[in-house]
Order: sequence, then structure tokens, then C-alpha cells
Amino acid sequence: MIDTRTTDCMKQLLKRSLLAATRLIGYRESEQRIIRQSGEFWSDTDSSKFRAYSHWKGEDGIADAAWLALGKQHLDLFHRMIRLTEMRRPIDRIIEWGCGGGCNAVHFAREAGQFIGVDVSQATLEECRRAVSAAGLGNFLPVLVDVAAPESALEQITDACDLFLCTYVMELVPTPAYGRRIVDIAYKLVRPGGLAIIQIKYATTDAATQPRRWGYKLNAANMTTYAIDQFWEICQQAGFEPLAVTLQPKQTLIGDERYAYFTLSRGA
Ligand SMILES: C[S@@+](CC[C@H](N)C(=O)[O-])C[C@H]1O[C@@H](n2cnc3c(N)ncnc32)[C@H](O)[C@@H]1O
Repeated sequence: MIDTRTTDCMKQLLKRSLLAATRLIGYRESEQRIIRQSGEFWSDTDSSKFRAYSHWKGEDGIADAAWLALGKQHLDLFHRMIRLTEMRRPIDRIIEWGCGGGCNAVHFAREAGQFIGVDVSQATLEECRRAVSAAGLGNFLPVLVDVAAPESALEQITDACDLFLCTYVMELVPTPAYGRRIVDIAYKLVRPGGLAIIQIKYATTDAATQPRRWGYKLNAANMTTYAIDQFWEICQQAGFEPLAVTLQPKQTLIGDERYAYFTLSRGA
């Protein structure tokens, strides 16, 4: 009889062999196909992965204390980073790209007049609204975008924001080129003098940390990575002035690794 640990080990081994083989033969899928797979992944609310991957609080998602702590880490980072700037207070508007179940929203919505959560999942936007209401706040505005058309957010959001926040999303986007589109969107949404904090999962010299470019369902949490200097330049090309990069080689709250937070200023 084979126990669960042995089955998990065999699955891991199989996955690693598959990854090595696809790298070896240079297997890739078209961006259009990956975008389609991504849309299917985030609309499958019955999937056993859905709540955990969407950072919902509680059962099948993230345990309450870790969920709160995850968002609090980001709030603390924001408070450290605004000391580098002359950001005006009070803050009118914060936009979070890929707000998930609201672990950032419950902290950040207190900091601004309005908190806009953008996401590709209607179920998740509703969950985020529930979390913000449960925290006693009523300033949440949901914005639904199609994975294939993230720029549609620019038509739905008419006012610029003081802070654009994006955490635990860039590694999930279909390709590095798609991630650039989000940085361009961020630049258009931030008001002159405002800030963006965008987190990426970074690539190292280990070939296994490179962007996957195939099989969204299997590789969702590792689809897109960038070298740290490469992402810095992408932000500059979009028009941002990068102020700081903060590394988190290990994230024990969710058992993941290789995170870099870019704090970016949109000049006045
Ligand atoms: C891991 S959760 C992150 C939630 C939250 N930002 C956090 O830090 O905990 C990823 C979220 O990104 C959303 N998402 C996935 N692809 C997206 C895309 N292309 N544009 C916007 N949101 C996306 C998912 O629906 C999900 O809610």
C-alpha cells in the first residue's frame, strides 16, 4: 500500500521531471492559449486550489492569523516606504491589482477615502467586499477585468490613485510581456506624485526559476518571473522612478520564496 507522503513525493518527482523535460526541448505555448487557461483557472471556483490561491481567509484558504499577518507586512512596508517620499495626506484613493480575498484590503482601506480592488474573479471581489465590510469599512469599490483585457480597468477607473498596490499577482500572470502591461496600466492609474508598490517573484541563475510559458493550471504560481534588474528597467521604461527594492527570499507565512517589492514613484 502506498501512503500519502509517498504519493506526494512521486507527484513532486514527476512534476520536476516534466519541468526539466519541457526546458530541455524548449516547449512553449502561445500567450493567447495561456491567457485562456488563466481565465479558466480563475473562474473555476469549485477547484480545490481556488480559495488558497485567491488568498481567501479561513477554510480551504489561508488560516486567519497568517492571512492578517500577510496584509500587515505590506502595510508596514508601505509605512516605511512613504518616509522616502513627500506623499500627501490624507490619501484619497488606493487601487489594489488582484485584491484576492482582502488580506491587504482590510488594512489598506483604513488608510484612504476609497479602496478600489481590481480582480479577474467576481467571486473573489465579493469575498473581498465581505472582508472589508466585516472590518467595519464601507469604502470598497470592486472592478472586474477579463484576463485577456486588463486595460479595460482604465475605462472603469476614472480617478487617479495615490497608491497602486500589487502583491502575489505578478507570478500568476500569463507571461512576462503581460506583466509589463500591468506596469504600464499602473503608471496610467497613479497620479503625479503618487506611488506604486509592485511585488514580483524573482528569477535567479537556477533554470527552474525562469518563466514557465506553458501549462497554467500546473504552473500557476510560477508562470512569470523576472531578474531583479530586468524588472527595475521595465518600471523605468513605463515612466516610473524606482525608489527602492525590498527582498524577501523566504516567505514563511505561505511557504513560498523569492519575492521582491519595488517601490516606484510617479514624478510630480
Ligand atoms: C494570490 S491572490 C493575491 C491576493 C492579494 N493581492 C494578496 O496579496 O494576498 C491572486 C489574485 O490575483 C487575481 N488575478 C489573477 N490573475 C490576474 C490578472 N491577470 N489581473 C488581475 N488579477 C488577477 C486572482 O483572481 C486572485 O484573486
